[in-house]
Amino acid sequence: MSAALLEVRDLRTHFHTRAGVLKAVDGVSFTLARGEILGLVGESGSGKSVTGFSLIGLVDPPGRIAGGSIRFDGQELVGLAQPAMRGLRGKRIAMVFQDPAATLNPVLTIGQQMAMAVQAHGGGGERAARELAARSLARVGIPDAVARLDAYPHEFSGGMRQRVAIAIALLHQPELIIADEPTTALDVSIQAQILAEMKALAKESGTALIWISHDLATVSSLADRVMVMYAGRIVERGPVAEVLHAPLHPYTRGLLDSLPALATPGQRLAQIPGSTPSLLSLAPGCPFAPRCARASTACGTDPPQVGDARHGALCHHPLGAGP
Ligand SMILES: Nc1ncnc2c1ncn2[C@@H]1O[C@H](COP(=O)(O)OP(=O)(O)O)[C@@H](O)[C@H]1O
Ligand SMILES: [Mg+2]
Repeated sequence: MSAALLEVRDLRTHFHTRAGVLKAVDGVSFTLARGEILGLVGESGSGKSVTGFSLIGLVDPPGRIAGGSIRFDGQELVGLAQPAMRGLRGKRIAMVFQDPAATLNPVLTIGQQMAMAVQAHGGGGERAARELAARSLARVGIPDAVARLDAYPHEFSGGMRQRVAIAIALLHQPELIIADEPTTALDVSIQAQILAEMKALAKESGTALIWISHDLATVSSLADRVMVMYAGRIVERGPVAEVLHAPLHPYTRGLLDSLPALATPGQRLAQIPGSTPSLLSLAPGCPFAPRCARASTACGTDPPQVGDARHGALCHHPLGAGP
């Protein structure tokens, strides 16, 4: 048995704002095996992106990692010096953002930027870099890849631009890709296509993938395991099929019931009442309690871990365990 590729323990990422300390990531722990696809879902503002940025060392002031450990292939990343982190980033760990503009420079051709990305990690001469770039574009389904190297980002459609960003992430065959809502801005048919391709690429190259999305349906068609995030915490985790068919946490149930694709036919779609809490001043206990139909006075204290190591949740009143 090989050790986990990624081991995150009690990660805490805080923003020091004028209004106080905002705990965007509040004690997150998980492991990821090589080649595994892990979905990270939750409503907007739950701390998914900040988790992703923390993993790749891109939390900027006023944010900082306030505690915990991130071990990547045995190496501790919390507190790692920036040059060492830059050496990993883009090479062994890559990130794909929701907006490809975060990756692509509008005034350079795709070929120029991909060559720069190759050379940033010491990859050969210009010709070799162009060949690698063209191969990477072809892998993500960009037709006529060699000719497209000389095009500028604005000459691509939104879907194609995101494919280019994914091709850049794939350049060095990283061991881990963190994809933060990379298809959210795209139309549904292109989303489905890119999802299927990313999954095939990840499985073929043994790349582990953390796929961040607010949409449990998107993640469920892609991931092996899923983690549900709420108020900076992982409130449920487990193999996708188990979480979908037998969720433990009322919040997960709520997410499922609000999905047209997964709802029970004939049943009305239900939105979760209320909205996500401010992470600035959370009351003690379960942060979901104010929105939860199952909540009781017990929920004013920290919820226990229920289920098991494979499929578990943080809840006083998990589903499938009586009222
Ligand atoms: N630069 C920042 N300064 C202050 N607060 C931030 C900053 N970035 C994110 N946050 C806060 O961290 C929390 C989690 O944000 P985020 O990880 O982006 O959520 P998600 O990706 O799940 O929508 C939010 O409350 C957000 O307002
Ligand atoms: Mg986000």
